[in-house]
Amino acid sequence: MYSFWQTVLLEEHTYYGAPFMPHMNLPVSKKHFDRWLELFFKTLDELFSGEKAEEARWRANKMAEMFQLKIAHYQKTNSKPLI
Ligand code: HEM
Repeated sequence: MYSFWQTVLLEEHTYYGAPFMPHMNLPVSKKHFDRWLELFFKTLDELFSGEKAEEARWRANKMAEMFQLKIAHYQKTNSKPLI
């Protein structure tokens, strides 16, 4: 997680994983992602402020949206990503 955010926010390339993969088969829906975002934003507000904090907020939101779309797609088509 540290290297993921370091790569995304600080442009220091230390993460080489595939972040979607561990989430693909989780039994999660919108309510879980909404709760994840709520906790993430709360923690962000408690610990950080400024431009990078705003970017983290924006990126977390986009990633959560993208994960949900991909999970729904793979469930619907009963398929798996190649990587
Ligand atoms: C309901 C929401 C979420 C749940 C339940 C969840 C759960 C998990 C789980 C179970 C893992 C695997 C942990 C392990 O291997 O020990 C994981 C890894 C990870 N998650 Fe999430 N996650 C959620 C949302 C997100 C979002 C929105 C992001 C991105 C902003 C994110 C980023 C990551 C990353 C970067 C990893 C590490 C992947 C790797 O090992 O390469 N997660 N998450």
